[in-house]
Amino acid sequence: LQPKVLKNRRILITAGPTFEPIDPVRGITNRSSGKMGYAIARAAREAGASVTLISGPTALDTPYHVNRVDVMTAIEMRDAVMSHISHQDIFISVAAVADWRVANASDQKIKKNKNGDTPTLEFTENPDILASIAALPDPPYCVGFAAESEKLRQHAEEKRRKKGIPLLVGNIGHETFGKDDNTLILFDDTGTLELPHGSKQLLARQLIEQIAKRL
Ligand code: C5P
Repeated sequence: LQPKVLKNRRILITAGPTFEPIDPVRGITNRSSGKMGYAIARAAREAGASVTLISGPTALDTPYHVNRVDVMTAIEMRDAVMSHISHQDIFISVAAVADWRVANASDQKIKKNKNGDTPTLEFTENPDILASIAALPDPPYCVGFAAESEKLRQHAEEKRRKKGIPLLVGNIGHETFGKDDNTLILFDDTGTLELPHGSKQLLARQLIEQIAKRL
């Protein structure tokens, strides 16, 4: 049995990919499975927290006693986070939010055209949910994630400062998508801490302990 290090704490977590429509039947997404975010939601609940999980489309079961809110797009995720953020003690942004959405999405299914012309997609940038929460007047303790394909340490520390958050968690190696295990590295004001390779559930428990220490 774990100690209830988050007893009486309220925690909001985002997880999974977002799905950005092209038309009513097509869209753009990414390879996030949601497993890391769901593992953190489960670990936070086991640590005694009251947990709300804002989830993009995943194939995962809702963790026991976690309040789950399903969304599709980055804009829906931003709106759901905004409507649940008050009175939260901690915000952990694990979701792989799409950087862009399709600006010229069609209301009707796009048809193939006889001349063989192909459609052209235009993109517009999505809002940075984590940065906007961190910029609130009295923000919860904010934790971000980074999946970098190169120069993890340098990019992660830059990202932490740019987003204005106290703790950023890097995935070591970018082939963690869909897997049940991972290796994490924590970046905060005092430096770095590596959580060695292990199951996402074990790493989630260790991360929750580290967050509880820093509150
Ligand atoms: O800037 P980048 O996407 O690499 O940052 C990753 C972190 O920022 C993750 O914690 C992710 O959940 C969050 N993020 C966000 N909104 C976005 C893009 C990323 O909250 N539009």
